Amino acid sequence: MEITLPLLNKYDVPAPRYTSYPTVPFWQQSIDLNEWKTTFNSEFLKNNHRDGISLYIHLPFCESLCTYCGCNKKITTNHSVENEYLEAVLKEWKLYRQLMNEPPIIREIHLGGGTPTFFSPKNLSLLLGTILKRSIVHPHHEFSVEAHPNNTTVKHLETLYALGFRRISYGVQDNDPEVQRIINRVQPFENVQKVTDESRRVGFKSVNFDLIYGLPKQTTATIHKTLNDCIALGPDRVAFYSYAHVPWTSRGQRLFDENDLPPATEKIKLYLEGKHLFTDAGYKDVGMDHFALPSDDLYMALANGTLHRNFMGYTTQRSSLLLGLGVSSISDAGTAFAQNKKHLHEYYEAIAKNELAVFRGYFLNQEDSSFRKYILDVSCRRATWFSTVDLPLLEEFTFPELNRLAEDGLVEYSKKEVIVTGLGYHFIRNICRAFDLHLLRTQQNRLPLFSKAI
Ligand SMILES: C[S@@+](CC[C@H](N)C(=O)[O-])C[C@H]1O[C@@H](n2cnc3c(N)ncnc32)[C@H](O)[C@@H]1O
Ligand code: SF4
Repeated sequence: MEITLPLLNKYDVPAPRYTSYPTVPFWQQSIDLNEWKTTFNSEFLKNNHRDGISLYIHLPFCESLCTYCGCNKKITTNHSVENEYLEAVLKEWKLYRQLMNEPPIIREIHLGGGTPTFFSPKNLSLLLGTILKRSIVHPHHEFSVEAHPNNTTVKHLETLYALGFRRISYGVQDNDPEVQRIINRVQPFENVQKVTDESRRVGFKSVNFDLIYGLPKQTTATIHKTLNDCIALGPDRVAFYSYAHVPWTSRGQRLFDENDLPPATEKIKLYLEGKHLFTDAGYKDVGMDHFALPSDDLYMALANGTLHRNFMGYTTQRSSLLLGLGVSSISDAGTAFAQNKKHLHEYYEAIAKNELAVFRGYFLNQEDSSFRKYILDVSCRRATWFSTVDLPLLEEFTFPELNRLAEDGLVEYSKKEVIVTGLGYHFIRNICRAFDLHLLRTQQNRLPLFSKAI
């Protein structure tokens, strides 16, 4: 069956990206610090030798504000902020190291932001060098970084490569000069070309581009050109994000005229245009807005059934313990989540008192763990197998949803399993939603908690 406009329209409802389950709006608004420390410690002991651990480090600074941005960032051109921040993150790492009874085996590092390349190569080297010095690097590690094409230098690339980074993701967003002016992100395409070439020359083996559809003033013609220009550079992966309009939390989004946003039906056409261009160019739809070349590890992991999903998005690494360092970062201990304070001054205050900076989180019960597994399976394996003890809950909440999805040809299901069809690949968020007992129970989908699925 073909993906059609009416079908895309029908499923364009608010839906989380399921980088966690339960999703953040359903977490407790405070956290018992001792319980978190005990959980972290026991999960570390369970996981360190089995799979190693993952680290996410949030580096929040950017030199100028892109008005569409929904990330946790701090805008400044004053680079003296780098030192204070690095000191705090290294101190936070030291506090967590005290909860690890042996040197951590580091499987995965992701530097996110904000803009990690706001930091000087020397400071990035200091940060990572200190963390890696008394750790063991897993033989199959994967280190990746988010970078801005306007401020990534060859020195950044060489420094990160020497530290073991092989994956880099550039924020491209859109190449059209008028769109760039309105989103306050003037970024000549030559910059994207230059950093892509340099990354490959230095040795990075996977280059990702972030692109967004649904930005103000975008049309099918502008996006067609942007995507063709990008495809010509042959990125190994592409994240083709749906613009998330959440002006109630991202105030910068109030700086442009909402009338310039493409209406819902136009936005869906932009998505379809992108999907066709990527598919025609040989990219595979990995799910949740991600496309990858068949030669890229991400697609190979999907094909081998080893794909995993956590707060960093899709990943080829399966470690079950993710430690988030830095302001607003989220940790995932498998059986519990914890998020750091979101404002820099609160984060600094906690760390200065030698305390972990977590402020909210969630401890999963048996039901959450089962349904989390179903959601992970659907996102990463496109199928899941039911446990008989869950049947009463599945029958009450999930099967009525699956029934509707099956009528549209998106899934096939029985009391034993659900299988996502080829058509269903494009609606993974909607299918995961059928297992979201928190959302289904409270029917909070009527509130604007999440951006729309498409
Ligand atoms: C931390 S930024 C990437 C690194 C760097 N700061 C940059 O912009 O190049 C993460 C990505 O989130 C995406 N993003 C930010 N705000 C968004 C929004 N409102 N809707 C959809 N995607 C968004 C952008 O594609 C952006 O590249
Ligand atoms: S999109 Fe990137 S550079 Fe722009 S404000 Fe957001 S984090 Fe900073």
